[in-house]
Amino acid sequence: MPGSYRIGNDPLSLDHWENYYRGGLLATCPTGAAGSYDLEVRQAWVDFFKPLADDTTIVDVGTGNGAVILIARQTAAGLNKHWNLHGTDLARIDPVAYVPDGARQFSGVQFHPGTAAENLPFDDSSMDAICTHYVLEYTDIASTLAEFQRVLKSGGRAQFIVHHNQSRLVDSANWSIREAEIIKQLGVYRHLRQIINIEGNPEQVVKKRTDELRTSLRKLKLEFQHASNAGYGSIYKATLEAVQKLLEMRKQTTAAAVEKEIDRVRAELRAAVRRVKDLVKAARSEADMKALKELAISAGLSKVEFSPQVHAGTNLVGWRMTLQKD
Ligand SMILES: C[S@@+](CC[C@H](N)C(=O)[O-])C[C@H]1O[C@@H](n2cnc3c(N)ncnc32)[C@H](O)[C@@H]1O
Repeated sequence: MPGSYRIGNDPLSLDHWENYYRGGLLATCPTGAAGSYDLEVRQAWVDFFKPLADDTTIVDVGTGNGAVILIARQTAAGLNKHWNLHGTDLARIDPVAYVPDGARQFSGVQFHPGTAAENLPFDDSSMDAICTHYVLEYTDIASTLAEFQRVLKSGGRAQFIVHHNQSRLVDSANWSIREAEIIKQLGVYRHLRQIINIEGNPEQVVKKRTDELRTSLRKLKLEFQHASNAGYGSIYKATLEAVQKLLEMRKQTTAAAVEKEIDRVRAELRAAVRRVKDLVKAARSEADMKALKELAISAGLSKVEFSPQVHAGTNLVGWRMTLQKD
């Protein structure tokens, strides 16, 4: 089935990630104006890549639209080195096609869509370096670490950025989940559909349905104010804007065309909620990281260290783990 995969016995659909990548955004958790990882997060990658020798082979596992690959490419260019870059992902990625100017930006990079971290298409001891950015924690960690141990060369290194359970990203994800739930409870799209298809109804029905939509939008605006005072509310904002656009669209086109657009907007909302639910589930506490360190050691990896990763001075955005294969 398109967009469906199976790890062990668990079916896993990655439509919600594929939907995001088709939109062309580089990173899944943007921290910079250009939509990629910047400041300390970018620096963590530059520091990891910099000591690598010329002609090194690197794989970014769970690369998505290739944000970390681009940092590697830019670092190599700055050092006048050439690295063989691979990007894998279980989702059907295609950064060359999806990212603006992708053919130039990713020239020479080999991408491997539909590829599980737990089962990489590389020979034993073939990789000098492995990176994952918000990926390891989404996988079957023990199997993935065993796979990393298999494909790393002796002396090869790995770095993982992992979601932190106390990061702002997790707070924001929890807000988004709640916002989507409230939008559903208010019946915003149900009331909108009724208005889209109102033509031909008696006047009192038109008035009743118009009032219902207005009431739900008024409540939605109040919820948005409350959320934005706390620094959140992105799902409310997107919904208010979408409703406005859909009502305008109805003035120009048929109800059927608007219905189709409502279906698309709602599918995007569902995908966004699935992504943030994935994120909340993947986020790790300090105790989890200690357990992860033990798992890495029992997979045969060494020099395993981890520390909190901040962004813009004080924002906690994850954990950074580094390790090596002796
Ligand atoms: C939060 S995104 C991170 C993408 C990218 N590294 C970034 O930072 O923008 C998580 C990615 O992990 C991928 N993923 C989830 N489970 C995976 C697995 N078992 N093997 C490989 N990739 C997986 C998803 O398809 C998704 O692209």
